[in-house]
Amino acid sequence: MRKRTITNGVVWLGAVDWDRRLFDSLIPLPDGTSYNAYLVEGSEKTALIDTVDPEMAGMLLSQLESVETIDYVIAQHAEQDHSGTIPQILERYPQAQVLATPKGKAMLVDLLRIPEERVTGVADGEVLSLGGKTLEFLYTPWVHWPETMSTYLREDRILFSCDFFGSHLATSDLYVTDQGLVYEAAKRYYAEIMMPFRAIIRKNLVKIKAYEIGIIAPSHGPIYDKPAFIVEAYEDWVTAEPKNSVVVPYISMHGSTRAMVAYLVSALAANGVTVHQFDLAVTDIGKLAIALVDAATLVVGTPTVHVGPHPLVANAAYLANALRPKLKFASIIGSYGWSSKAIERIAGQIPNLKVEILDPVMCKGYPRAADFEALDRLAAEIAAKHRELGLA
Ligand code: FEO
Repeated sequence: MRKRTITNGVVWLGAVDWDRRLFDSLIPLPDGTSYNAYLVEGSEKTALIDTVDPEMAGMLLSQLESVETIDYVIAQHAEQDHSGTIPQILERYPQAQVLATPKGKAMLVDLLRIPEERVTGVADGEVLSLGGKTLEFLYTPWVHWPETMSTYLREDRILFSCDFFGSHLATSDLYVTDQGLVYEAAKRYYAEIMMPFRAIIRKNLVKIKAYEIGIIAPSHGPIYDKPAFIVEAYEDWVTAEPKNSVVVPYISMHGSTRAMVAYLVSALAANGVTVHQFDLAVTDIGKLAIALVDAATLVVGTPTVHVGPHPLVANAAYLANALRPKLKFASIIGSYGWSSKAIERIAGQIPNLKVEILDPVMCKGYPRAADFEALDRLAAEIAAKHRELGLA
């Protein structure tokens, strides 16, 4: 992709990674991603904001061929998808100085072995004039590491936000053209890497709303020229209260747990509760993470494997525990052949979830009438709990 002008003196650089399907060897990228960098040229100095994943270094370096001088490299986040090409930039521009938060400086030295003397720490609120272009650095921690910051360009009212507001979405469009598509991609990204830190992100949102922002330029996905859309979405995601919804991740080996899940989901729907059902054998784990953003209740469905839960269910419970969603209630349903400790093992896996455990329903073999009645009671209890919280 060629470099593209945003406003006079502000240019998009970077790489669209259409084919990448996995991030951190963990996170599915069904729609690819992009690594956005930005060049800000003042009358006296030039700054490069973030770089690209080192796999795509050649693209950024070719876009910079006609740029003779870079004075500053603003490293808003030390993760390698944004910082990984900094060493090559410093080699090409020996006079360039990297600017980062003090925590970011330490990480850049540790992760990329950038010489300490090439990195300068900046303070929260510190201002850098490039000559007619004034950059203000705003600490915005935990979007997505503790060292992250955003950068506000005063004259053009642009907020460069790195992962914050970003979306894993490969597109040829410089700006958001399909809000629905971007909403899902941005929610996926928030769910997978930022959800545990939402209390701090709430403060970051208050902080950036003090600025008049015309454009939000993240380091993944398209640029927001109507930024209210994504700011309002974040405000919804980080609210303290969940919605009237239940997430049901499950595995079934011989059909018993599947029959229980189908019955429970139907009963919940009949009680006016929104349900998101995921067969963990085939699901995109990012979709599960998205559903967890709003869910009030988690019901895990598992068969019994060597006395414990199925390993894929254990994996999903581990993920839910790590993401610390807003869940208020949890339960377990499933089956066993001769004995099971699945309930105790799953309950022991989710200490981070401050949930009330509702009576589990485990059946021996294929569910009988009494098991279906127990599922009816569980569905009615979940619906009643949600009503008590004012969610329904
Ligand atoms: Fe896009 Fe946390 O890096």
